[in-house]
Amino acid sequence: MSINRRQFISCLAMLGISFDVPAISSGRHLRSIPSTGEKIPAVGLGSWLTFAIDVDDQDQLSSREAIMREFLQLGGGMLDSSPMYGVAQEVIGKSLKHIDQHDDLFSATKVWTRGHRQGFLQMEESMELWGLPRLDLMQVHNLLDWKTHLPTLREMKEEGEIRYIGVTTSHGRRHDELISIMQHEQLDFVQFTYNILDREAEQTLLPLAQEKGIAVIINRPFQRGGLFDRFESYRLPTWASEIDCTNWAQFFLKFIISHPAVTCAIPATSQLQHLRENMGAAYGRLPDAPTRERMIEYVRSL
Ligand SMILES: NC(=O)c1ccc[n+]([C@@H]2O[C@H](COP(=O)([O-])OP(=O)(O)OC[C@H]3O[C@@H](n4cnc5c(N)ncnc54)[C@H](OP(=O)(O)O)[C@@H]3O)[C@@H](O)[C@H]2O)c1
Repeated sequence: MSINRRQFISCLAMLGISFDVPAISSGRHLRSIPSTGEKIPAVGLGSWLTFAIDVDDQDQLSSREAIMREFLQLGGGMLDSSPMYGVAQEVIGKSLKHIDQHDDLFSATKVWTRGHRQGFLQMEESMELWGLPRLDLMQVHNLLDWKTHLPTLREMKEEGEIRYIGVTTSHGRRHDELISIMQHEQLDFVQFTYNILDREAEQTLLPLAQEKGIAVIINRPFQRGGLFDRFESYRLPTWASEIDCTNWAQFFLKFIISHPAVTCAIPATSQLQHLRENMGAAYGRLPDAPTRERMIEYVRSL
């Protein structure tokens, strides 16, 4: 299912939300997964910290369910989690039971332990927690014991328990090792950090992913919220309207998803209003190469 800008606005209206949506008519930004050609939305959702709540607190649980429901209604796809994120997978599974329409959900989680048996058991537990017949993507979290886990992931993929496999890292950790894995192993996805202030990935990781046909998930798109702390007291440039950005979140996310090697960015949020801002980046015009340079120069000047 794909929704266009008009449907996006009408979803917001049905939810009783009046919101400043970028004023252009193109549809939701989708990206192809190189290994299959399947298309997924370019804006996803993370769950680190933001979904690590008190599961016995019904208000907190309901608020995360509302975030997931609206994420899917507004055309979101990839939801990224991990056993490392406390009860996040339990929260996701409990919420999904109450959300009827989740055909577009692209479930992504990770294995984060050492050893074949422990890895297998942890992945089985994740499947149960999500409560889905199969998971879309299983990633080795922070490359932990990847030599043990990748063969297990391949077996699970062959048996149809998962559809895609990948590895993750973040904020510059173990990039040399990640590069070597990308060069020598067959992967569907890689996940690493890239944002307008942390552009190291432009040097090797992004071009290598493109060359090897590996889909790219971008974590920490807001530098764990640090980009807002640093820039939200400044105005957006007037020309931000030319790329349909009405707030900083859209400016930061559009910078990321306009990179030709990027498949999906996964901003995390615990607030509906932030989710709405973030999902606005999935619509409207994106910056071209000269505008991307202009964006870099602008944030440098602040
Ligand atoms: N190695 C790995 O595999 C790895 C490592 C890091 C991250 N990840 C994945 O990537 C996801 C994203 O990274 P992240 O969670 O570290 O950081 P992030 O998405 O860069 O930033 C999240 C922070 O930004 C704030 N935020 C979100 N939208 C906002 C908006 N529109 N306006 C103002 N503030 C906003 C959130 O606060 P509010 O709750 O107040 O909105 C939260 O504090 C993670 O959740 C996780 O799924 C994976």
